[in-house]
Amino acid sequence: MMIRGADGTDITDADAVAAIMDRVMPHSVLNCAAYTGVDAAEDESERAFAVNRDGAEIVAAACAARDVRLTHVSTDFVFSGTRQTPYPPDAEHGAAGIYGRSKSEGETAVRQACERAAIVRTSWVYSPYRHNFVKSMLSLMRSGRDLNVVDDQRGAPTWTRDLAATLIEVARTGWTGTGHWSDAGQCSWYEFAVEIQRQALEAGSLETPVSIRPVSTAHYAELIGRTLAPRPAYSVLDSSLLAADLGLTPRPWADCLAGMLAEEATLAAASARRKE
Ligand SMILES: NC(=O)c1ccc[n+]([C@@H]2O[C@H](COP(=O)([O-])OP(=O)(O)OC[C@H]3O[C@@H](n4cnc5c(N)ncnc54)[C@H](OP(=O)(O)O)[C@@H]3O)[C@@H](O)[C@H]2O)c1
Repeated sequence: MMIRGADGTDITDADAVAAIMDRVMPHSVLNCAAYTGVDAAEDESERAFAVNRDGAEIVAAACAARDVRLTHVSTDFVFSGTRQTPYPPDAEHGAAGIYGRSKSEGETAVRQACERAAIVRTSWVYSPYRHNFVKSMLSLMRSGRDLNVVDDQRGAPTWTRDLAATLIEVARTGWTGTGHWSDAGQCSWYEFAVEIQRQALEAGSLETPVSIRPVSTAHYAELIGRTLAPRPAYSVLDSSLLAADLGLTPRPWADCLAGMLAEEATLAAASARRKE
């Protein structure tokens, strides 16, 4: 069920959430709705907490009251980023920024309101749709601009296709608990950008390489002339618990990236044909 569907239901509005639950009578709810502006959240903390904590609680309470399964999506940003090995699902939270804190408190609120909920944390999500790192990199590379990309934050990219399949499996099996899902392996944003360019050149969806320079987060903030919200320096998630329970195997991130780039090329070709 899409909470924010054609009627634009706001998850911070308990009456609206109750109304759509009673109208749709879902068997299962997947809550992907969130305030996701990591930097903007520092200035709009009230809104971030309203959506990511209070809205999450409203959805969870509505599910609990109707005995409806809930899968709630959360983030690697709930962690401090001080580890050097992948975060297991029961690792202590320690978000430094407002976005991560609001999502962390959202998880607690969900767990209190709906004991049987599944909470699935993911990281560095990309797809051919909407705004994300892979699409931004491709667009900048195609414009021929040389790039400075952060090299002191490590994480695991996640293709929405594999994430969606996992979330569907969580809902289908009624899995409960807190789990992690990302593509396998890890990289820095810089390494991710280098691989995006390598694959795009190889696939012919990028004609000319640009220069990609690794920079620190602090230097990147200087280059763009604004203060960035704190981000975890290391936020690789250990997906093994969920993978084992569901009988799934995360695929290497570079393989998933290849799948996404192929999908992006197909969509671009279809869009070009429609314009002809
Ligand atoms: N992107 C990542 O790298 C990443 C990483 C880890 C976890 N996550 C988690 O994945 C989930 C989806 O994130 P995303 O990246 O897909 O973000 P997104 O593109 O910003 O999508 C969030 C969605 O939530 C909707 N929304 C915002 N406020 C709402 C409200 N009050 N009521 C109902 N809907 C509302 C937004 O609708 P409008 O656009 O109409 O406002 C948007 O459709 C979130 O829980 C996020 O924390 C994302």
